Order: sequence, then structure tokens, then C-alpha cells
Amino acid sequence: MSLHPNDLARWLQQGGAERYGDEPATLLSHLLQSAWRAADAGLPDSLVVACGLHDIGHAWLVCHQGAVLERNDLHEDLGADLLAPLLPPSVLGPVRLHVAAKRYLCAIEPQYFDGLSAGSRHSLAMQGGPMNPAESRDFAALPWAADAVQLRRIDDLAKCVDAPEMPLAELMRRIEAIATLR
Ligand SMILES: [Fe+2]
Ligand SMILES: [Fe+2]
Repeated sequence: MSLHPNDLARWLQQGGAERYGDEPATLLSHLLQSAWRAADAGLPDSLVVACGLHDIGHAWLVCHQGAVLERNDLHEDLGADLLAPLLPPSVLGPVRLHVAAKRYLCAIEPQYFDGLSAGSRHSLAMQGGPMNPAESRDFAALPWAADAVQLRRIDDLAKCVDAPEMPLAELMRRIEAIATLR
């Protein structure tokens, strides 16, 4: 399957206009806030792009199935599969693991759960709940696990109204730069 960066821009714009579940921000704003935070923190370009695209699976579902955003929809696997023709493992890995990273952080940091939004706490149970010790060990050993944890912490913070966002054109420029390196 071929994929052009313009496809991503269309999914983000058409599928991102919806509010993200019961979060105050739209899905597109959530993603652009995530990218802005990652760039502001000086993270590598691949992780900035992963942050900006981590919920692309949600956007695709809205565009193609008119789906109301659901939190147990395996959007992390869908997103990574959609991006696979265009982007490298350094982007795909953190996208695929960003839900698992929440389950991991809930297991290893008791205070992490308290900082989650109400919606994110609610979805945790549907996503399998906190990892058990064996699951946590296995997760930590995966390639991209550390990047997924960084993405996840940014994901959790990027749900505000009127927070700084990376312009979509700038995110697209970074996507195209990484895509050509693939
Ligand atoms: Fe997500
Ligand atoms: Fe997210």
C-alpha cells in the first residue's frame, strides 16, 4: 500500500475536528499540542513526528468509518500499520506502544494514575488495566519502549484548551523530511 503525506494531512484535518472523547481539546489540537511539546523538549525529530501522529488511527476511523472516538479501538496498532509504508520504525514503534506505555506507567509509578485525565483513567480498564510485573518487564525490554514512555507522558499533558500547538504545516514538513530518509 502506498501512502502520501497529503493523505495524513487530510485524515488529520477531516478526522481531527472532533473532540477527543470527553477531553476538552479536539483530536487535531491534541496531536499538534503533543508535537509542540516534543519539539519544545528538544526530542529527536522521529519522536516529534510520533507525538504528532500517535492518534492518527482515531483520525482515520473518523474519516473512513464515521466512528465516534472509542478508547478501546486498538487505534495504536491501526495507526502504526497505516504509517508503516511511509515512516521508519523510530516513529512506528512509539506509536504502536503508546497505550501499552500507559499500562506500564500505571504499574511502575503509583502516582502516575492519579495524574491521568478522567477519560484516560476510564479507558485504562478497557485497555487491560495496569501491567503485572511480568508484563512490565517484557514491555521495558521492547525496542522503542523508552520512546513510547516519553510519548505517553507528553500525550497525557497535551489535552488542554488554548495550549501552544505546532502548526500543521510544520508537522507536515517534519513528516516529509523523515519519510524521505526512510
Ligand atoms: Fe491514543
Ligand atoms: Fe493521545
